[in-house]
Amino acid sequence: MPTDNHQAAYGRKTIVLHWGMALLFIVAFILGQVMEELPRGPEKLSVLGWHLLVGGAVFLLALPRLMRRRKLRVFRDQGAPWERGTAKAVHFVLYALMIVLPLSGFLAGASLPATIPLPGGFELSPLFSSPWLHEAMEETHEFLVVALVWGVGLHIAGTLWHKFIKRDGVAGRMSPFARKHSAS
Ligand code: HEM
Ligand code: HEM
Repeated sequence: MPTDNHQAAYGRKTIVLHWGMALLFIVAFILGQVMEELPRGPEKLSVLGWHLLVGGAVFLLALPRLMRRRKLRVFRDQGAPWERGTAKAVHFVLYALMIVLPLSGFLAGASLPATIPLPGGFELSPLFSSPWLHEAMEETHEFLVVALVWGVGLHIAGTLWHKFIKRDGVAGRMSPFARKHSAS
């Protein structure tokens, strides 16, 4: 039986941050895949520059996102214990990835023995050219990308569960088209 007790949506700033960051994640992911397919050379480095910029934006927005989270307490005590536990674990992983995924990528890029051309004519010189660090960070980055795919997959599955099985309004709380916004 559908219930109506979860109807107030997140505040507009939270919704803009959520979808803005989701878009950045998707673009960074696609650029990462494109880069993987390219042979070593200037073209690959140029895609890496854009990848760094977009991934770096995720990192910079993680702080305001986490600060806003303190205000979201009103939404945390709803649902059965297993639902709250799963949502908490998946959200924790997604928040953690906003920091550790760009960080591992940055360390993988900065330890390359090559200058990375950045959009706008800037460039990032090798900070600590180290084959060992590069390899370790590249593998960590790839592992975290797999965690991202699983994390986002479970997150979307959770949204679909709320939308079509529970039909309790939770899926609409992050909708950009929501009409009734809370203060957070
Ligand atoms: C939201 C943030 C990010 C996402 C989603 C992301 C995603 C990806 C993906 C999907 C790949 C291809 C790996 C694979 O499929 O095995 C990749 C590779 C890579 N990323 Fe990121 N990345 C992010 C941030 C960054 C940042 C900030 C940097 C900084 C330079 C970076 C540097 C790299 C490097 C050096 C590689 C390896 C490229 C290669 O050797 O082919 N990433 N990333
Ligand atoms: C099509 C993709 C996506 C859909 C449909 C979606 C949907 C939602 C919905 C409905 C909520 C609200 C849940 C609730 O009120 O309990 C939410 C929250 C959240 N989303 Fe997404 N999302 C998507 C992509 C992403 C991505 C790519 C990330 C980051 C990697 C992300 C991170 C989060 C986090 C951390 C929260 C929890 C907010 C809080 O602290 O309460 N989402 N999402």
